[in-house]
Amino acid sequence: MTPQNLLFFAELLHRRTGILIDETKDYLVKTRLAPIAGTSGYADIDALIDAIRDRPEARVVDAALDAMTTNETFFFRDQTPFEVLRTLLSDPGRRGAGPLRIWSAAASTGQEAYSIAMLCDELPHLSAENAVEIVGTDISQSCLTKAAAGVYSSFEIQRGLPIQKLTRYFDKDGESWRAKNELRSRVTWKRHNLMDSPWALGRFDIVFCRNVLIYFDISTRRRILDLVAGQMQNGGHLFLGASETTLGVTNAFAQTNRAGCWIKADASAAPHALSA
Ligand SMILES: C[S@@+](CC[C@H](N)C(=O)[O-])C[C@H]1O[C@@H](n2cnc3c(N)ncnc32)[C@H](O)[C@@H]1O
Repeated sequence: MTPQNLLFFAELLHRRTGILIDETKDYLVKTRLAPIAGTSGYADIDALIDAIRDRPEARVVDAALDAMTTNETFFFRDQTPFEVLRTLLSDPGRRGAGPLRIWSAAASTGQEAYSIAMLCDELPHLSAENAVEIVGTDISQSCLTKAAAGVYSSFEIQRGLPIQKLTRYFDKDGESWRAKNELRSRVTWKRHNLMDSPWALGRFDIVFCRNVLIYFDISTRRRILDLVAGQMQNGGHLFLGASETTLGVTNAFAQTNRAGCWIKADASAAPHALSA
């Protein structure tokens, strides 16, 4: 891959997705784009990038950008956020007039949103289907297709899903496991780029935006966190990944006394909030 093509593609990726790669990551671009070049009928990666530059086809550009996303995820990832969420949701007083709305904002292949759905299902006051609305979004269409299907390999199932939940919420489907309808129907999937306004998704009480900010520079993190904050109810809680923070990025959130859990800053005195 020529340095010019790497530069062009890195700039396109950053502009369209916020994802940052530098010249030391050329191996990553090569490994991820080689299969796209093959399936799209280009001789090599340079031919693919030339085509993206000179005669872009939405299908090919999308596939190339999608291939650059890192989709690592698993059920109940890091456990603590889900324990904190359970504590937050265990207070029946949290429930207002409408359904509680929870957003898995970089949902990848769905394990995070389904973990939230299982957790809600096990809380008596949230077990009714219309008590909670869970929306899973991602920029990657291939991830969303898999998430909506709810089919996971044994390897994916073994990563974080307790056996009781496996038997309760999944059916064996050949070599794989398929989420039962009752679990799948608890999550709505939508394609959404975190760089864009989330206005159309509605307002949320709780947002999981975990393990995605690490791919962005500070100004992109600020833009995304401010957009997310604008879409949250007063007293809303934000969950970030273990190595992610709002500190030094935006004042839209205040830290709570629970690791990885943030509260929308102007509502830190809300009655059901964890203490900030
Ligand atoms: C490492 S996964 C994190 C999945 C899950 N949140 C977790 O913590 O296990 C990061 C996800 O962010 C998505 N992503 C990257 N850039 C994005 C953007 N600009 N808008 C929406 N999603 C994005 C990727 O497609 C990927 O599925």
